[in-house]
Amino acid sequence: MKANIGLTDKNAQQIALVLNKILADEFVLYAKTRNYHWNYEGDNFMEMHKFYEGQYEELDDMIDDVAERVRKIGHYAEGRLKEYLKLSDLTEPSSTTDQPKQVKNLLDDHETIIRYLRQQVDVMTDKLKDAGTADFLTGIMEQHEKMAWMLRAYLK
Ligand SMILES: [Fe+2]
Repeated sequence: MKANIGLTDKNAQQIALVLNKILADEFVLYAKTRNYHWNYEGDNFMEMHKFYEGQYEELDDMIDDVAERVRKIGHYAEGRLKEYLKLSDLTEPSSTTDQPKQVKNLLDDHETIIRYLRQQVDVMTDKLKDAGTADFLTGIMEQHEKMAWMLRAYLK
């Protein structure tokens, strides 16, 4: 049944595209974080193993929230891995077990997502007239800012 929540069809379509692109980015970053949780090597193995676990669990919750937000505005959430790779701006570099490389790679991805979210918060408010999604994206952005800070703190 069609959602009758005060968004024009055209705007809801555009909002769904943005949300599905964010969903794709979150999914790629989730997989990368989990990969590093498995494939870290170093004398602080347990610290990094647990740190990455905390981060991918947070991303897991965010993925669910983003997908469900797509449904709330009356569209379908993308769920195919091939489509995620097409939609996402994030790249998958060759695997590394090295802490600074892993941490920098994840940090770059969080910062890429934060810049996109910051820009889309304004688009949602000014152009697409969706205060709900603007608020939602602001919350997600703040979560990424915290995760980015924690990654950044491992680097000098
Ligand atoms: Fe595990």
